[in-house]
Amino acid sequence: DSYSWFASTLLAWYPRHRRDLPWRHTRDPYAIWLSEVILQQTRVQQGLPYYQNFVATYPTVQDLAAAPADEVLRHWQGLGYYSRARNMHYTAQQVVAEYSGRFPGSYAELLKLKGVGQYTAAAIASFAYDERVAVLDGNVYRVLARIFGLTQDIAAPASRKVFQLLADQLIPDDQPAEFNQAIMEFGALQCTPARPDCLFCPFQAQCFAFQHGMVAELPVKSKA
Ligand code: ADE
Repeated sequence: DSYSWFASTLLAWYPRHRRDLPWRHTRDPYAIWLSEVILQQTRVQQGLPYYQNFVATYPTVQDLAAAPADEVLRHWQGLGYYSRARNMHYTAQQVVAEYSGRFPGSYAELLKLKGVGQYTAAAIASFAYDERVAVLDGNVYRVLARIFGLTQDIAAPASRKVFQLLADQLIPDDQPAEFNQAIMEFGALQCTPARPDCLFCPFQAQCFAFQHGMVAELPVKSKA
């Protein structure tokens, strides 16, 4: 289709630049969910030891669900936003009680879990099950806004539809998990918020923001 250049370019960039991160070596929805909960408001380097510790301490969702709340919070110490830990614990108990300890097997079903929003459901469904659903996080918004010249305010809830529609067209049938990891990694390493590496960017020729001198202006984000 007309957008296939995007996935081709991105998927050529990814293996040459990606970081070796532990949650990229698993298809276990529980471990992937843990990693995404930890990384939601935490940088990769800070989150890494916490992820390793949680997976080691609670290897399964049953282990996490059965742990005392104060112990879970103790393991979370230093990560901040403690409601994340409490919600995580609650969701683990929900998966055990209502789903026999097995994470729901699709994006639509994952969304029914308390505390699992569109981003997390898309991350689990694509990374664990290779479901073709595009993740949208800050990195993805930035990459798409710049390359495609989207000027919608990314802080406005209504903008989500525009980005989701585009991202769902860009994601290839055959490698949804790889594509989603790649676009987030591209935003984290190449198309960064400050000082993006446009000089060595494989999208230079297609990038609206680069071609129009608008890299610093995109994405548009109003103060909340
Ligand atoms: N930030 C959020 N999810 C991530 C992932 N899967 N890999 C790297 N950084 C992330």
